[in-house]
Amino acid sequence: MTDPLILGLESSCDDTAAAVLRGRALLSSVVEGQSALHADFGGVVPEIAARAHAERLDHCVERALDAAQVRLQDIDAIAVTAGPGLIGGVLSGVMMGKGLATGLGKPLVGVNHLAGHALTPRLTDGLSYPYLMLLVSGGHCQFLIVRGPQAFTRLGGTIDDAPGEAFDKTARLLGLPQPGGPSVEAEAKDGNPKTYRFPRPLLDRPGCDLSFSGLKTALMRQRDAIIADKGGLTRQDRADLCAGFQAAVRDVLAEKTRRAIAIYMQEAPSEPALAVAGGVAANMAIRDTLQQICFDAKVRFTAPPLKLCTDNAAMIAYAGSELLAAGVAHDMTLSARPRWPLDKTAAPLVGHGKKGAKA
Ligand code: KG4
Ligand code: ZN
Repeated sequence: MTDPLILGLESSCDDTAAAVLRGRALLSSVVEGQSALHADFGGVVPEIAARAHAERLDHCVERALDAAQVRLQDIDAIAVTAGPGLIGGVLSGVMMGKGLATGLGKPLVGVNHLAGHALTPRLTDGLSYPYLMLLVSGGHCQFLIVRGPQAFTRLGGTIDDAPGEAFDKTARLLGLPQPGGPSVEAEAKDGNPKTYRFPRPLLDRPGCDLSFSGLKTALMRQRDAIIADKGGLTRQDRADLCAGFQAAVRDVLAEKTRRAIAIYMQEAPSEPALAVAGGVAANMAIRDTLQQICFDAKVRFTAPPLKLCTDNAAMIAYAGSELLAAGVAHDMTLSARPRWPLDKTAAPLVGHGKKGAKA
């Protein structure tokens, strides 16, 4: 039997996306970003995001169908992000999904956005369960043991900012362009990470929780101290601040990753693997360090291609396909959820990033 043809929809933050997938074959993936709409506001404005999703989702679906060279009536099931995220945007997608599923008379499956991210390494690298996942983006930061499409154990996560947010705020504080991650990484190349000392938050506490908000405060203090002392920042000061900040984020992620791997390995997985996903995984200093840690621990290291790590609908279609195969389907009572933790047993994380709920 051939795998079902699945249309995925994603609208939980500031990307409107649709994708068509059959099995592990991605036939199309269309993502329309909204950054230009939010640029003047210093963050995602939920009402603007929701309106743009409502306006653009049908265009994205048409483009995805065209690119996949299939017709709407060929689709076997609709998978849609049902949370967590900015509620107006999630609602736009869920309503669209319900309309399409009803009109086509085909099954509907509501997908957890974080499950979409967490299952992507199965789509891209065919990882087998259980594997360890580190999600590091502008909105998320957590360690998960992924056991199945609905079975996740959260080992820890950020108690305040996500690391991408910290990079973005650092860039803002130093007058560097957004998104902050790539600009701070580029500056850091010419800097000395030892010139300014940054804290390594939560390393003194056991477990895998992380914290990044103190780092940007430390950076602001260092910056202000240099300005008070010299009347301004030189290029070298800026590079040194970026290098010091990046080294602190890297060290914290490295130590918490070592701990997460130790917990995961207690289960003696048959094919041990760590997958990293999210925009921050693009940072070469962080990535190289994580890769080395995996090498030392004899754990396979994978990182899906960036366009499948950042928000997209292919991951939603793929997670939907695993859920459908497991017998999950929803009806018209499917609701949009602003918060939806993957691991219902883990204590809730505090904090709410500029990009929405971290769940
Ligand atoms: O996964 P993503 O595209 O979007 C969500 O957060 O959902 O991640 C974007 C984040 C931004 O905060 C950006 O600054 C960060 O990832 N980022 C990086 C790098 N490239 C992107 N952070 C550090 N180093 C990078 N090279
Ligand atoms: Zn996301």
